[in-house]
Amino acid sequence: MKDVVRLDVDKIPKKYYNILPDLPEELPKPLNPGTRKPIKPEDLEQIFPKSLIKQEFSGKRYIRIPDEVRAAYMRLGRPTPLYRARHLEKAIHSKAEIYFKREDVSFTGSHKVNTAVAQAYYNAEEGIDALTTETGAGQWGSALSLACAMFNLQCLVFMVASSFKGNPFRKTIMQLYGAKCVSSPSSITSFGKKLRGKKKFENGSLGIAISEAIEVAASSENTNYALGSVLNHVLMHQTVIGQEILQQFSMIDKTPDIMVGCVGGGSNFGGFAFPMIGEKLRRKGFRDTRFVAAEPKEVPSLTKGQYRYDFGDTAGMTPLLKMYTLGKDYMPDPIRAGGLRYHGMAPTVSLLKHSGVIEARAYRQDEVFDAAALFAKTEGIIPAPESSHAIACAIDLARTTEGVICFNLSGHGLLDLQGYQKILGL
Ligand SMILES: Cc1ncc(COP(=O)(O)O)c(C=O)c1O
Repeated sequence: MKDVVRLDVDKIPKKYYNILPDLPEELPKPLNPGTRKPIKPEDLEQIFPKSLIKQEFSGKRYIRIPDEVRAAYMRLGRPTPLYRARHLEKAIHSKAEIYFKREDVSFTGSHKVNTAVAQAYYNAEEGIDALTTETGAGQWGSALSLACAMFNLQCLVFMVASSFKGNPFRKTIMQLYGAKCVSSPSSITSFGKKLRGKKKFENGSLGIAISEAIEVAASSENTNYALGSVLNHVLMHQTVIGQEILQQFSMIDKTPDIMVGCVGGGSNFGGFAFPMIGEKLRRKGFRDTRFVAAEPKEVPSLTKGQYRYDFGDTAGMTPLLKMYTLGKDYMPDPIRAGGLRYHGMAPTVSLLKHSGVIEARAYRQDEVFDAAALFAKTEGIIPAPESSHAIACAIDLARTTEGVICFNLSGHGLLDLQGYQKILGL
C-alpha cells in the first residue's frame, strides 16, 4: 500500500520550472502606470535584486537552483511527502482516490518558505541588508523572517490589521526569528498614516500592506522588497512542489485526473500545478487532467473578477499587471483565511484561466471550515484555513467524480485555532 510516498533528499529539484515559454499565448507585459508602456526591467531595480528581475522576465524553461538554496530546502524538510487521504475517502464515500502533498510540514507551517529562502539568498548575494514585506495571516511573514535569519538580513513585516489581531502568535514567531512586525495600516509610512483612523480601512488588506512595504523599501538605502506571491519569479520558486509530485506519482504508477489548489495571489496553485500544466501544454502527458483553483466566495477574483490591467497594491505604486481583479480598492471581508484576501491574481494563473486551461471554484467560509474539521478528524492534520479551500473543493469533486484527485495541503492551521473556535463555535 503506497499511502505515504517519500522521496530521498537527492530528489529535491535542481531547477525551477518557468511556465512562460509554454503558455498558450504570450503573457501581457507589466505596464508603467504613468506611460502605459511596458516597464523596463531596470525600473524595478529600486526594490528588487537584478537576479530576481532577470528571472521575472526570463523566457528560459528551467533556471538552476543555487546549491545554497537547495541546502536550505533540505534543512527545512524538503522533499515533502505525498499522502493518500484514505480515511477522508471513506468518510465521504468518495468515488475518487484522494492524495495530498504535505507543504504543512515546513518549519513555519506552509509552502511560503520555498520562495522565501530563494528571495533572501538572491538579495543577500547582491549585498542587500534588509527586506520589507506584507503578510496576511502571517504565513508569508513567518517564512520570510526565517529566511532572513538564515541569510543574515533584517526583516520588516506589515501584517494586515485583521490578522494581526486574530493571529497574535504569528507576530511572536516573526520576532523570534529577529524580524519586526507591525499592524497595517501602520503609523510608520505616509500611506498608512493616510488610512489610519478611517473605518473602511481598519481591517487592512494585502493591497494596503504591499503599498506600505514598497514605500519603505523604495525610500531606504540597501533595503529591498520581497513579495510572497503573484509575480512570475515567486511562482517559479514554488515549482519545487509540483516537480516533486511528478516524481511521486510516477513512483506509484498513477496520474492525477484532477489537481486542486487554493488561490490567494496564485503562488501555491502555480507551484503545485505548473509543472504538470507545462507537460499538458507541451502535450507530453497529463492530457486529460483538470486543474482547479479554489478561492473564497468572499474574495472571488477568478470567479467574479474582471480580466484587465490593475495595480498589485492599493496605493497604486506597482506596475499595472494584466490579471483577474476585483479592483485595487476592494476591501475583502475579514475572513480567517487571511492569505486569500487579495484583490488580484498572478498574471500567469489569470492567463491560464482566461484561456480555459484551468478552472476555478469558490467556497464560503462556513463550508471551508466544515471541510477542515472533517479533514482534521479523519486524517489527523489541522489544516490552514487557506488550504481548507482546496480540501472543500476536493471533497466536492470526489463525491461525484472517479479517478485520482490530488490537492495541495499548503499549510497547517495550528496557529489558526481562534478562527476554528469562532467559526465552528467550539
Ligand atoms: C497556507 C497558505 N496557503 C495558501 C496561501 C495562498 O497564497 P498564494 O495563492 O499566494 O500562494 C497562503 C497565503 O498566505 C497560505 O498562507
